[in-house]
Amino acid sequence: MTNVPAIEVRGLTRVFESRKGFLFREVSRTEALRGLDLTVEPEAIFGLLGPNGAGKTTLVKILSTLLLPSTGTALVLGHDVVEESAWLRPRIGLVLGGERGLYNRINARDNLRYFADLYGIPPHEREHRIDEVLERVGLEGAADRRVEEYSRGMKQKLHIARGILHRPQVLFLDEPTIGLDPKSARETRKLVRSLVSDGVTIFLTTHYMFEAEELCPEIAVMSKGRIVARDTVAGLRQLVGGDRTLEAEAYGFEDREVDAIRHLPGVSKVVSEEYGPRTRLTVRLRSLETTPDQVVATLPGHPELAVRERRTSLEDVYLDLVEEEAP
Ligand SMILES: Nc1ncnc2c1ncn2[C@@H]1O[C@H](COP(=O)(O)OP(=O)(O)OP(=O)(O)O)[C@@H](O)[C@H]1O
Ligand SMILES: [Mg+2]
Repeated sequence: MTNVPAIEVRGLTRVFESRKGFLFREVSRTEALRGLDLTVEPEAIFGLLGPNGAGKTTLVKILSTLLLPSTGTALVLGHDVVEESAWLRPRIGLVLGGERGLYNRINARDNLRYFADLYGIPPHEREHRIDEVLERVGLEGAADRRVEEYSRGMKQKLHIARGILHRPQVLFLDEPTIGLDPKSARETRKLVRSLVSDGVTIFLTTHYMFEAEELCPEIAVMSKGRIVARDTVAGLRQLVGGDRTLEAEAYGFEDREVDAIRHLPGVSKVVSEEYGPRTRLTVRLRSLETTPDQVVATLPGHPELAVRERRTSLEDVYLDLVEEEAP
């Protein structure tokens, strides 16, 4: 491959306007993307996280030429998604989560034949390619069953088979394991990794932190139409104040006690939350200087105190980043 980025986005915006009412037409305006910048290197898995409505699907649809941006530019494989969509379409694949987009009344093989023709796969190659992708997603035994008899997991596998049938160089996976049982989700992740070893660039959105952490060397967090952070998981942990987290729980803490914790060495952040009658202090640590024992020593007079230490999780990072963006 050349060193052209797989994806390059500059100042991308997308506004949705919808009209409500009959007589008094009200126009509601949603800014789904608000000046988004992003570069993704080729031949790896890039993960995009973000709350519902952050704009992930909107971005994926623009990058896969399904939706036009309002302003800004987006290049995939160095080619403009608006101006050069015809060049791009055969080179990119898109898999959206959910059950739409397949023909239920016909079997999996016929579904794939339909899409093969749509993608312009030559007839002499068609059957061979279909067998190949069916085997790759593990549906070879169910190829002749009607899709309406398929379970959700099988449908999702068929979606992926459709998405890779034309051997795209960049594959967009929008929540590919949504609603899948753990075994099917794991098989899907394995398949995604095998595609990367074949040189495919994967752009993945997910709400499963574990999945992002397992699959993606680099992760971006999106909130309200912008990328708010982008790094490796280790880098993101540092960004939110360190890779160790202590949790101290008791029946309420005084402000001065919370302050004392805040001033312990290496502490970057203390958050207090109520859990029924109990209060939990979540203490983010940049270094090993402060131990659970020191936290206990700083909070005398709480015989009920429980302190535990854990690694800062990607979920902690995500919640911190998204919270900072909250109104
Ligand atoms: N066709 C549309 N018409 C009007 N508004 C839309 C349309 N599509 C998306 N939006 C709005 O744009 C914003 C971003 O939506 P988008 O689907 O991109 O979010 P998302 O990050 O994919 O969320 P989720 O995690 O729930 O899938 C939301 O406020 C949504 O309501
Ligand atoms: Mg979405």
